[in-house]
Amino acid sequence: MNKIQIGLGTAAIGRPVYINIKKEKSAAFTLDVFRQRGIDILDAAYAQGIRYFDTAPGYGMAEEMLKDWAINSGKRDIEIATKWGYTYVANFDPNAVVHEIKEHSIEKLNEQWEISQGLLPFLTTYQIHSATFESGVLKNKKVLHRLAELKNEHGLQMGLSTSGSNQVEVLKEAMDIEVDGTALFTVFQVTYNVFEQSLATVADEIARTNIKLVIKEALANGRVFPNEKFQSYTTAYTHMNGLATKYNVGVDAVALRFCMDSIPAFRVLSGAANKLHLSDNLKVNQFTLKDEDVAILRELAVDSDFYWKQRKELAWN
Ligand SMILES: NC(=O)c1ccc[n+]([C@@H]2O[C@H](COP(=O)([O-])OP(=O)(O)OC[C@H]3O[C@@H](n4cnc5c(N)ncnc54)[C@H](OP(=O)(O)O)[C@@H]3O)[C@@H](O)[C@H]2O)c1
Repeated sequence: MNKIQIGLGTAAIGRPVYINIKKEKSAAFTLDVFRQRGIDILDAAYAQGIRYFDTAPGYGMAEEMLKDWAINSGKRDIEIATKWGYTYVANFDPNAVVHEIKEHSIEKLNEQWEISQGLLPFLTTYQIHSATFESGVLKNKKVLHRLAELKNEHGLQMGLSTSGSNQVEVLKEAMDIEVDGTALFTVFQVTYNVFEQSLATVADEIARTNIKLVIKEALANGRVFPNEKFQSYTTAYTHMNGLATKYNVGVDAVALRFCMDSIPAFRVLSGAANKLHLSDNLKVNQFTLKDEDVAILRELAVDSDFYWKQRKELAWN
């Protein structure tokens, strides 16, 4: 078992609200307390073996927090992945209506790189944040050439993240993109979990290239936890609870472990926003799923269109 296969996603520790299923209301928000809590989670993650950290300018203060923490703590053995393409605009107002604005232009790339390059030398991976056909980014020659230039100049892994029911089509197009005869992308950050398994159809093909798969939303934004609002998952909840009991861990560890044991993933991101959830998530390191249990979990997949329609309806909280 590879302890460091889990990475920490910093979306939920960089801004006060995020897309998820929260059962309890958040306490009153203060910037200093929030920031300190984020740093405590980074410390706890490192202490428990995590060395891969994923961030983005769209995650509020996360990128800057991670940079300061990496420099001040003197850690030498961490890897940071960031992205470009979303600007955080909510100014830490939990009641903001708009939280982020997407823009995949060469101007936005250059503007955000100016800041994100401050993560060097910890920065190993630079990704287009949520590449889609609609944004035109995969056909934007100026952007692709600039990414190739940054990749060569700084020895970066160049990547993209995807979301939506056509993730696999986006990945297939991205796999074929070359600049000056060399494949551009070597990291794909993709949503994959017990409910949304479309990635499995291309995971082996991707594994035969030198592209690394990083898994996000492994807990389906919290939908893997039994919740009466999601009646269609009632049978899934029974199976997952059964496995959690069998392996003596929580449902979260079963769901994360599924991502590690069912496809060749390079990293699986934990999105934990508190230390308790982080420790629960890291129980993935105590076991592996038996083949017959992976088979049970494979059966829980739902239609991708259904999954992403439901994902769009989740609130920021
Ligand atoms: N590139 C992209 O477009 C993109 C999109 C989404 C995510 N990401 C990356 O992926 C990372 C992980 O994704 P994610 O955070 O969205 O999704 P996730 O891992 O699927 O879900 C996190 C949710 O699970 C809950 N949770 C975790 N452990 C728990 C436990 N032990 N008990 C109860 N609830 C628990 C969290 O609740 P609390 O919030 O209450 O802790 C949160 O609601 C992000 O931080 C980010 O780095 C990237």
